[in-house]
Amino acid sequence: MRDDIAKVLLSEEEIRERIAELGEQLSRDYENAEGDVVLLCILKGAVVFFADLARAMRIPMQMEFMGISSYGTEQKTSGIVRITKDLDTSIAGKHVIIAEDIMDSGLTLLHLTKLLSSRSPASLKVCCLLDKPERRECDITPDYRGFLIPNEFVVGYGLDYEGFYRNLPFVGVLKSSVYSE
Ligand code: PRP
Repeated sequence: MRDDIAKVLLSEEEIRERIAELGEQLSRDYENAEGDVVLLCILKGAVVFFADLARAMRIPMQMEFMGISSYGTEQKTSGIVRITKDLDTSIAGKHVIIAEDIMDSGLTLLHLTKLLSSRSPASLKVCCLLDKPERRECDITPDYRGFLIPNEFVVGYGLDYEGFYRNLPFVGVLKSSVYSE
């Protein structure tokens, strides 16, 4: 698996340190919302980030999971999102923080935030580990961001290529030979 990685973009330690900062910032920002915070994991890519971020936050929260699938090709989303697993509970009146792994075109999160806003949360924010602004196709920025990254094909720490590499503990650039073969 590691032989397919051209270079490590973000090491385990860099990710751990940044998530500790994000957890601290969120804990401060939401300290008055105690009991009403919902951390929402967008499956599947966000699962690793979500698990680490939740444990870096020192406030009570509920965890929710949503599965989405966007129509499009492997490398380009269309922004039309199909829900494959919906929330189990209502988010009305809750302070919802969406945990996402990456914002690329931004179309997935644009669609998702519109959808969730219609369900009357008390507030709705996006916390995204990786932000690739060069690829943005709409006017959206994450409220909380881990790292700005260049326009490279990244895998690991939840991000996949054809379903694999999600369990790499770092974020790496995939060798182009892997996906151009
Ligand atoms: C990835 C990622 C975001 C979306 C970002 O999901 O988790 O949801 O793409 O792309 P965008 O900003 O261009 O819309 P993917 O569809 O690969 O599914 P996965 O999370 O199950 O890997």
